[in-house]
Amino acid sequence: MVEKKLLPSILNADFWKLGSLVEATLRGGADGLHMDVMDGHFVPNLTFGPMVVGSVARKVDTFIDSHLMIENPTAYIPDFVKNGSNAISVHWETERHLHRTVSLVKELGSKAGVVINPATPVECLTEILPFADYVLVMSVNPGFGGQKFIPTALGKIEKLKNLLVELGLEKRVAIEVDGGIKLHNVEDVLKAGADWVVVGSAIFSSDNPKEVEDNTKRFKEIIERYR
Ligand code: DX5
Ligand code: ZN
Repeated sequence: MVEKKLLPSILNADFWKLGSLVEATLRGGADGLHMDVMDGHFVPNLTFGPMVVGSVARKVDTFIDSHLMIENPTAYIPDFVKNGSNAISVHWETERHLHRTVSLVKELGSKAGVVINPATPVECLTEILPFADYVLVMSVNPGFGGQKFIPTALGKIEKLKNLLVELGLEKRVAIEVDGGIKLHNVEDVLKAGADWVVVGSAIFSSDNPKEVEDNTKRFKEIIERYR
């Protein structure tokens, strides 16, 4: 069985208080952290790169999942690994030589993920699934936190689950879901087949560590029921 994980996305955190808010999510039971890396080209927004990932990864002992929303992700993979990323996902839409990229991530010792945008069909993944450690199904268009969940993502998660079963990979390849996940829809995502759940604004809606810890606990309690 693939392990269930709650991965808070720091994208919407108050960066002035990043350290104490990250620690609050870990006290609340987060299973790792999701790092949204954006370059202003692949997506219309800019965030942070390997340096910020490294600053966090050196201070906390947890699973670091870097989601690269950048052009030419392959060029930056060694830097993300050096800075402590345990898992790195690249968009299907960005990389022409996806098999080479996925192989590089694994050779360098991280878990390799492939991400699909809302308009990209699950069928595109058939050939890369045997080489991937996880698939990230976007349930919003990448670029910003706080967007509304696109409901057709649920059907895509189910389809992906069936495809993994068909290929005999369902016990090895994790399904991650990212975007618009709130307390009212997290169970739908889990029921559809999600293993790793990314939550941004619903956890970091406050800059008060106690509230961030409590928000994390609420999601964690629900995810625990699906283990
Ligand atoms: C969107 C990012 C997501 C997102 C999560 O491009 O990949 O990680 O910001 O934040 P919420 O939960 O607010 O959608
Ligand atoms: Zn993300």
